[in-house]
Amino acid sequence: MVNSPHFASAWPGLFRSGWSLGVFVGLWLGSMDCVRAQRSLPLAASNLGVESCRDCHEAEVDAWERTTHATSIEKVIASELTQRLAEGMHLQPDGVVSHASCVRCHFTEESLASSVQITAGVSCESCHGGARDWIDEHNRKSLTRGERVQISRDRGMVHPSSLVDVAKGCFECHVVDDEQLVNRGGHPAMSDDFELYSWYSGEVRHGFLIQNSEKSVKSHTEELQPIPEARKRMMFVCGKLLHLGHTLRALALCSDPPVDKSGLPIRLKSGAYTMGVQHAMTARSLISDLERIQSMVEIPQINTALGVVAGLSFITGEQPAMAAASRELLRLADEFEKTVQGDDVRSIDSLIPAARRNRGH
Ligand code: HEC
Ligand code: HEC
Ligand code: HEC
Ligand code: HEC
Repeated sequence: MVNSPHFASAWPGLFRSGWSLGVFVGLWLGSMDCVRAQRSLPLAASNLGVESCRDCHEAEVDAWERTTHATSIEKVIASELTQRLAEGMHLQPDGVVSHASCVRCHFTEESLASSVQITAGVSCESCHGGARDWIDEHNRKSLTRGERVQISRDRGMVHPSSLVDVAKGCFECHVVDDEQLVNRGGHPAMSDDFELYSWYSGEVRHGFLIQNSEKSVKSHTEELQPIPEARKRMMFVCGKLLHLGHTLRALALCSDPPVDKSGLPIRLKSGAYTMGVQHAMTARSLISDLERIQSMVEIPQINTALGVVAGLSFITGEQPAMAAASRELLRLADEFEKTVQGDDVRSIDSLIPAARRNRGH
């Protein structure tokens, strides 16, 4: 019944690609035992809050306060979508925003006095890790730069010296992995056109430090520092690998059928397809992006990545294979960052989009 002509004509683009039909079957038949939700609830007890950064990072805090991450908190709480999600997922309406399944992506919690409270939207510690155990070490002058970075990472800091480490967080939140939220509640399945460089370099950008020498701590400036060309390329390529890795991971968590009894793709109330179908379409477009990069420059990790996804059989229950492919893509992003320099991949510059303007929240 999946072969029904309705299905094929509704999906001409996907159909032509050869593997997509199998994605649907695979999604449908598989089990989801081997993968868990990507982002666990952040530990309230290790969060210190944005004010604890302000003394030293005034410029970063000012920039953050103007972002959607900081300002959306009331909007999310008051949103009609939030009410619908509460109904669709059978959650207490007034408790919905403190529910773990929302907090992990939308809010920052702290342990205050005797209770855990939401104190911000997506904040410094959502991206850099709860600071309790590293705040005093990450800037310690008596250590070398290398020691500072290592010790603070060991203590839970998500340090921007590894772009991949910090960027993983973006995809954990911006690629939604909870089918209940999307298929029952009507939550968006993803941020539609998310691309790491352009989404970072608009409102989110907050580079105000300059390196004096390898040894000393960095100094603060009031001017936003330009993002070096080499870093832009790293963001673009790492972003594509991470995006595909996280999309496959979300696909591995899907178990709802993508089509109805007559073989037509199921439409949610909003008219959108189910989460699995939306992610399958994104995966396909990310694979084309990787092919485009491959046609412009030789990058071993991109070749391997394309081999990994080409080798995926989408015919039967494939969740374990998708989960394994996802892990391999995340590993390749890491290896790419460690072994390739931005200057080696100049020829992709024409692919990199401009900084994104925000939606004007
Ligand atoms: C007492 C001052 C101080 C406080 C408080 C502080 N920082 Fe820092 N931070 C610094 C200094 C100085 C550096 C540069 C360290 C270096 O050069 O290795 C830094 C570096 C960083 C970096 C890494 C930048 C890089 O590439 O070296 C991040 C991320 C960061 N801080 C986040 C935070 C967050 C989040 C908070 C609040 C939870 C915070 N900091 C609180 C002084 C501080
Ligand atoms: C996996 C991460 C994730 C989880 C879990 C999640 N959200 Fe979201 N949510 C997002 C992202 C990312 C967006 C922005 C999507 C976009 O770019 O369009 C969003 C958008 C929204 C919006 C629209 C905001 C606006 O400004 O229009 C509301 C409301 C919302 N979420 C409520 C919730 C509620 C309530 C829950 C829990 C029941 C929840 N979300 C769980 C990631 C998540
Ligand atoms: C803890 C989860 C989380 C993390 C980590 C995260 N985001 Fe977000 N981001 C969100 C949510 C949720 C929204 C939507 C808020 C809303 O619309 O109410 C959002 C909104 C945005 C927006 C504004 C979108 C618009 O429509 O204008 C940008 C830009 C953005 N994120 C970029 C990033 C980048 C780049 C990273 C990584 C460096 C990142 N985000 C990491 C959860 C997260
Ligand atoms: C949405 C995720 C996100 C949020 C929220 C966030 N950061 Fe960052 N931060 C990043 C990323 C990604 C980088 C690395 C940028 C790069 O590589 O150019 C970074 C870099 C930094 C740096 C180093 C910048 C430089 O000049 O070298 C500091 C310091 C920092 N963040 C502090 C903060 C503080 C303080 C806050 C809260 C006010 C905060 N960050 C909020 C993602 C985030």
